[in-house]
Amino acid sequence: MKKTLLILSVLASFLAACGGSTSENETEDASATTTASAPSKPAMDAGELLIVKSDCIGCHQKENKMVGPAYLDVAAKYPATDENIAMLASKIMKGGKGVWGTVPMTPHPKITEDEAKSMVKYILSLKK
Ligand code: HEC
Repeated sequence: MKKTLLILSVLASFLAACGGSTSENETEDASATTTASAPSKPAMDAGELLIVKSDCIGCHQKENKMVGPAYLDVAAKYPATDENIAMLASKIMKGGKGVWGTVPMTPHPKITEDEAKSMVKYILSLKK
């Protein structure tokens, strides 16, 4: 119960931060509506999109350790081999514990193997 609240509040502040910046953009764009429909950002990686749509953000951030390890730390730890991708994908689906500390990762039974693998590929691609 507590965890759910934490996740929700993290989500809420995340959304609030996003909302804040879009409304700024909107006021700037108001005078140039013709270009407003062409976003300059590159399309999101499929794995990144899956992560954004899932609950991962409640426990993971790209650069900072939260409940779970930062994606950059995960990427630094595991080379992007087929074995590691399969192993990490199965941890996302089945849950995992004991690698980064005592807090376990909850299982994600609704995520398919293909989805989990593309999430892992995105995470491992963050390696610098
Ligand atoms: C309830 C919090 C929580 C959620 C939600 C969560 N994780 Fe985790 N995650 C953790 C924790 C804690 C660990 C560290 C587990 C350990 O020490 O073995 C972890 C570890 C990982 C690892 C590294 C596993 C290893 O063995 O090194 C990956 C990759 C990962 N998470 C991806 C994800 C993805 C992708 C999602 C969304 C589908 C997600 N996590 C959702 C808490 C979470």
